[in-house]
Amino acid sequence: MKVVVTARNGTREFECEPGEKILHAGLRSGVELPYECATGTCGTCKARLTSGRTESEWPEAPGRKYFKSEGDLLTCQSVAHDDCALEVGPLKSREPNTSAPRVRRGVLCGLRPLTHDVTAFDVAIDGPLDFAAGQFVLLTVPGIAGARAYSMVNFDHGAERLSFVVKKKPGGAVSEWLFGEATDGAPLSLFGPLGHATFHPDVAKHVLCVAGGSGIAGMMSILSRACREAHFAGWDGHVFFGVRTARDGFFLDELEAFRRRFPARLAVTVALSDEDVPPALADAYPAFAFTRGFVHAVAGERMKGRYADVRAYVAGPPPMVDASLRLLLREARLSPADIRYDKFS
Ligand SMILES: Cc1cc2nc3c(=O)[nH]c(=O)nc-3n(C[C@H](O)[C@H](O)[C@H](O)COP(=O)(O)OP(=O)(O)OC[C@H]3O[C@@H](n4cnc5c(N)ncnc54)[C@H](O)[C@@H]3O)c2cc1C
Ligand code: FES
Repeated sequence: MKVVVTARNGTREFECEPGEKILHAGLRSGVELPYECATGTCGTCKARLTSGRTESEWPEAPGRKYFKSEGDLLTCQSVAHDDCALEVGPLKSREPNTSAPRVRRGVLCGLRPLTHDVTAFDVAIDGPLDFAAGQFVLLTVPGIAGARAYSMVNFDHGAERLSFVVKKKPGGAVSEWLFGEATDGAPLSLFGPLGHATFHPDVAKHVLCVAGGSGIAGMMSILSRACREAHFAGWDGHVFFGVRTARDGFFLDELEAFRRRFPARLAVTVALSDEDVPPALADAYPAFAFTRGFVHAVAGERMKGRYADVRAYVAGPPPMVDASLRLLLREARLSPADIRYDKFS
């Protein structure tokens, strides 16, 4: 099926395979349709059908609450049944030095619990993937409807193994599946790489990371790339990592290893929202700052007067991301181009 999309910055067309999501077909063909979550919740991919026939594969998708007329659809959830014409939001440009997003096959391996409700795992993929630090892929698990977005933790050129970290959501289909039995060796389908919350070492800026819970995933990829490129030899890195209590913390050894490579310029602050900092935790990581509070509030307090030449990365639960965005836009007065975020909705 031929799909013609018209945006205020141009008209493009691409072919959609039967059963292929319109968003995926566009991105695969190099047409950078707008999207954010790519999983039906945020409404960013909303488009208006002006001719043809489409169908939503998830008619209850929460992103539908942004619809204004009958012809509206979410390109990340819809497939075309005929040649179609759509009006879409502004077309973007592709992240540099990344593979074209497409479907890949993978096998889940190396599942390892990190805390009582966070697990890490790898996916061995069927060919090398170039992605930007901070990007994510969509994973589809056998027997569970819909794809889930997960950010890569690692960073490698031509990666054949992707690493992830997932927090268990009570009642959540995929996250609970990961905590069940017989997941190691499971075949998965992937679509990616996706996402614009990316770090590129040629951006001459200080790096501010604000992460809640598993939102640290993409930050690990960013820190990995930034350390490899010696970005913190010339620029500051401020990492704020929020968890509820000490027992919810993970990746602290890995963060300490990054910090130790650039001790003069890379600082790590861990915020505990639900308890005072246990002395044993502070003693175990003497070079970190620990404090009680919500991570966005702690970042706001400690970053006061230090926002010049900063690019900020934010990821985690939607209320934490929204609070951080308010801070970065209203108080820090960063330009939207210098605020990159993923809401784990
Ligand atoms: C850009 C991005 C990056 C993310 N990165 C991470 C990460 O690194 N680590 C992490 O722990 N979490 C991450 N998340 C959150 C993650 O994608 C899941 O929402 C979370 O793991 C809960 O999934 P679940 O299946 O357990 O819960 P569920 O409640 O079963 O599903 C949650 C989400 O899955 C999708 N979904 C559910 N049902 C359907 C359906 N029938 N059809 C289509 N879609 C459906 C929807 O997007 C829904 O919000 C990220 C989210 C986004 C948007
Ligand atoms: S990109 Fe489609 S709803 Fe978020």
